[in-house]
This record gives sequence, structure tokens and C-alpha cells, in this order.
Amino acid sequence: MPVPLPEHYTFVRDLGEGTYGTVVLARDDRRSHTDNPFVAIKVIDTRQVQHKYIRQEVSVHKSARHKHIVHVHEKVEMEDDFVALVMDYVRGGDLFAYVSKRRCLPEHQARWIFQQLMYAVLYLHESVGAAHRDIKPENILIDDSDADFPSIYLTDFGFAKYSGVNPTISNVGTPTYLAPEVFHRRDKSATAYNGQMADIWSCGVCLFVMIYGIYPQLTNAGPGRDPQYVVDLDGIQCSLYESVRVGGVSKRVSEGAMRLIRGMMAPNPASRATLADIWRDPWFLKDIPKDVGRALPRGTAAFSSR
Ligand SMILES: Nc1ncnc2c1ncn2[C@@H]1O[C@H](COP(=O)(O)OP(=O)(O)O)[C@@H](O)[C@H]1O
Ligand SMILES: [Mg+2]
Repeated sequence: MPVPLPEHYTFVRDLGEGTYGTVVLARDDRRSHTDNPFVAIKVIDTRQVQHKYIRQEVSVHKSARHKHIVHVHEKVEMEDDFVALVMDYVRGGDLFAYVSKRRCLPEHQARWIFQQLMYAVLYLHESVGAAHRDIKPENILIDDSDADFPSIYLTDFGFAKYSGVNPTISNVGTPTYLAPEVFHRRDKSATAYNGQMADIWSCGVCLFVMIYGIYPQLTNAGPGRDPQYVVDLDGIQCSLYESVRVGGVSKRVSEGAMRLIRGMMAPNPASRATLADIWRDPWFLKDIPKDVGRALPRGTAAFSSR
């Protein structure tokens, strides 16, 4: 379906058609003689998306200025109830395609991407004061799909929410990446959850997917209990494997990687790894880029001797 574009932009091709918007590659006619006149434009049909979600998406995404978050240039309100979000175009596709093409990633490459992701999440949680609530490889963009150590950019703030005083009660996100306290809530309207702790879970799933090349299987430890109806969160378990098969060869997954994934995917949010825990984790800290290492989450003691 052709989507309307704001003045000064010319359609080039579709980039992605999601449930909540169409994203197209466009040329900014005012910059057509420059090196990079291209932008990505997300066009949202306000008749199909609740206004509160559009408001939050635009507000959180526009205020997030970080080297690992897709930069928004402007928001344009158009006729016929369409809103356009004009952003930097990121040319290497998304992390889902990147991992699928390689089957899975060697740990040091997965770590490099994961460190950038956590740096963006730390900024979002502690500087912007918001939760993303839909972190998954499809919403993480890559600058160069052929690079072993690409730069990544978090995007799609369609479910983002400021932390504020109201705990989160809506049931948004994508099932595979949803934390169990979100997915398995018995009374969907009554139980509040912490959107930022749910983001940590989703980042743990992203790390799992990069390392194992498959989705985690959540099982219920109690015999015969349907995970849909679990009330006791600690009854849910995620299987971690000690090795992964790549091209017919079995490759060991390190203890350190498994420990971190286990901590981030702790079913009970109260015992889940926090950002401060992650910034103390030896596997995470290995080969850490200087800026990521210098960023200190709340609750982390600064080491003056280092
Ligand atoms: N700035 C961008 N540069 C390049 N591709 C993008 C950009 N933004 C989105 N895309 C592509 O479009 C898809 C959908 O965009 P997204 O913002 O995630 O919308 P939705 O809410 O529909 O999931 C992404 O998964 C990605 O492949
Ligand atoms: Mg998306």
C-alpha cells in the first residue's frame, strides 16, 4: 500500500511493513546533492494505533539521543491522519537477518553487539527514564551486514513508556521476548510489572539468540503444569545448552555466557540481574569498549583504583 510522505521527501523503496507502521527509504530532496540524502521514514496511521502509543513513541524516541539509538530528525503531522517519523537510515538491515545469515555468532562477536545494546538500554532506563518494552533482534539495526563487528542502533519505540509513577499494566511486546511476569500474568489488567526489568529479560533473550541461533524454550519445572497458567514464576525454567552445533561441529558455550544469560532470564524479576549486576559481570566486561565501560549504572560502586 503506498503511504503518504511529507513534503520534500521522495519515495525510494519499502524497508519494512510492521503491524504498527510502514517504514520506507526516502530521499530528502533538499539534500539531494550531498553524500547522504537518504532517510528512513516511519509512517503511522493514527486511525489504527492508539494515540497514547504514538505520543509515547514519538516523545521517547525523539528525546533519546545516543550513539546506539537510531536518531530521529523530525516528526511531521500529515493530512489524512498520518504521522511521519523521519530518522537516520541504517543500511545493514536488522540483527535478526544478521544472525540468521550466520546461523549464530561466536561469543566475542555476540558480546560486542550485546555491549552496545546494554549501553543504549542503560541510557534509556537511567537518563531518559523510560522502558522500551519491545527489545528484539528485529528492532536492532546494523550499520554494515558484512562486518564481524558492526555498530548497532536500537529502534522502534512503539511500546516505549516513561517509568513515571504508574507501574506498567498493559500487555505489550512480542511473545518470545516477553518476560514471564508480563506474558504469564493471570489477571492481565491487575498485575503491574516493571517495564525496565522486562527489558533486561528481553536483552537476555537477544544474547541467547545470538549465541545459540535459536529461540529459548521455556519449560515449566512442575510436572504437567501449563506455563500459560503459572502463578509461581520460579516454576518456569529456561534450558541452556553447554554447546551449540555450527556447520556440523559442536562448539562449547562458556560458563560465563551461560551465567549471564541465566541471570538476565531469571523468571522472577526480583532475582533478575540488574544493570549494575551486568556492569560487574566478567563476561560482559571482557574487551569492553571504553565508553561502555565508563558508563556506570546506578548502584555500581566506582573503582578508583582502575
Ligand atoms: N531507520 C531505519 N533504517 C533502516 N531500516 C529501518 C529503519 N527503521 C526501521 N527499519 C526497518 O523496518 C522494520 C520495521 O520498523 P519498526 O520501527 O520496527 O516498526 P514496527 O513497529 O512496524 O515493527 C525494522 O524491523 C527494520 O527492518
Ligand atoms: Mg519493530
